[in-house]
Amino acid sequence: MKFQAPRGTYDILPDEAHKWHYLEKIIRKNAKFFDYKEIRFPIFERLELFQRGVGKSTDIVEKEMYVFKDKKGRNFALRPEGTASIVRAYIEHNMNSSQKNPLRLFYFGPMFRYARPQKGRYRQFYQFGFEYIGNPEPIADAEIIAIGWKIYQDMKIPNVNLELNSVGCVNCRRKYYKELKKFLIRKRGNFCSVCQKRMNSNPMRTFDCKNKNCQNLLNNAPIMLENLCPECESHFQKVLDLLNQMNVKYNVNSKIVRGLDYYTRTAFEYKIEYLGAQDAIGGGGRYDELIEYLGGKSTPAVGLSGGLERIILSLNEAKIDIQNEESLDVFIIPLEEKFVKISIEIMQKLHKKSISSIISDSQTSLKNNLKYCDENRVKFAIIIGENEIKSKEFTIKNINEKSQKKIPTNEVCEYIFIQLKNN
Ligand code: HAM
Repeated sequence: MKFQAPRGTYDILPDEAHKWHYLEKIIRKNAKFFDYKEIRFPIFERLELFQRGVGKSTDIVEKEMYVFKDKKGRNFALRPEGTASIVRAYIEHNMNSSQKNPLRLFYFGPMFRYARPQKGRYRQFYQFGFEYIGNPEPIADAEIIAIGWKIYQDMKIPNVNLELNSVGCVNCRRKYYKELKKFLIRKRGNFCSVCQKRMNSNPMRTFDCKNKNCQNLLNNAPIMLENLCPECESHFQKVLDLLNQMNVKYNVNSKIVRGLDYYTRTAFEYKIEYLGAQDAIGGGGRYDELIEYLGGKSTPAVGLSGGLERIILSLNEAKIDIQNEESLDVFIIPLEEKFVKISIEIMQKLHKKSISSIISDSQTSLKNNLKYCDENRVKFAIIIGENEIKSKEFTIKNINEKSQKKIPTNEVCEYIFIQLKNN
């Protein structure tokens, strides 16, 4: 039997790993700038958390969850997203009681959705996320949106479109749903079967349908933005004003409704046209009802998540190369097995100075070892043979500059340390 990675999953091979480190570094840097603290939570949770948190009628819960029973017959699911878990942890650890101020959390890790794999859509994918819990003010929405914007800018992703909407609060939505349902039911038979089903459970999700015919039918549909209550309208306007002040470029798009049920008021997505069908590299919004709905005290919150695979795809499509800056400092090449012992001593001294170094095997020819250094952008090679031991001087090759120098044995580590510092 030939084993392969499961459909919709993939390996990140060493050649690609530096891209992930680069993105993670930018995410962590911004978390630090905005004082978001890291939270790590389980890969699996009770199924009911996602059913209740994300919403029973969403695609994620209806069709895309990896569900399994444990040995006691309890239902669990691999996490399809992070927000529900964070809210669970927030309530479980009473995180509000020790906090006088709102809480800022970020996370990074794999999520799982059993969707049909295609470009930009995987069954295991990586998300980063930021959640701002406890601040009802528009500044919290603007902060979260601006963090996403800054992260994508720092990653140098060209042509990111930020699309913004307000999906209202429970009060204005109740009135709006009645109107929208009336409109949809009049044309019911012309909509696709998915929209027909959504009309009852979550009529706003019809705006999410990719079917051209459904989109045309929705052209004159009433929109949430024109039916907001005065509080939601003022909140949305203030978010827009703050984003203008922060120089964040956005488009208001009344069709951004999001595929998760917990949103209230602000909802947004960052999109990249050149990615094709799976064009959202991130999204989020306010979820003022979720914490209470999952058993906590009524607490406002807003957050965002971004998809790492789609970010890497965008950079590849835009031909933006992420340089691998993680190359090895020193490759020690003992020309015979008897020089391995002294090579170990040098390696340990280099490690003490925080210089990365490894020892080649003495079976490989010097030519091949130097070829390896070239191909892997190693910075220095130390060659140790009979002559070097006798003369008490090692040959140090600067691989990039294609030069070499003899350095007294006891000064080698210091010499390389200074060279690396000056570069
Ligand atoms: P989401 O829109 O479902 O939101 O996912 C966020 C991002 O994850 C998407 O924009 C996309 O880049 C990426 N993504 C989603 N599914 C896949 C997939 N199958 N393959 C590859 N990438 C994918 C959430 O998950 C919310 N928790 C966001 C949030 C945080 N709302 C408030 N706080």
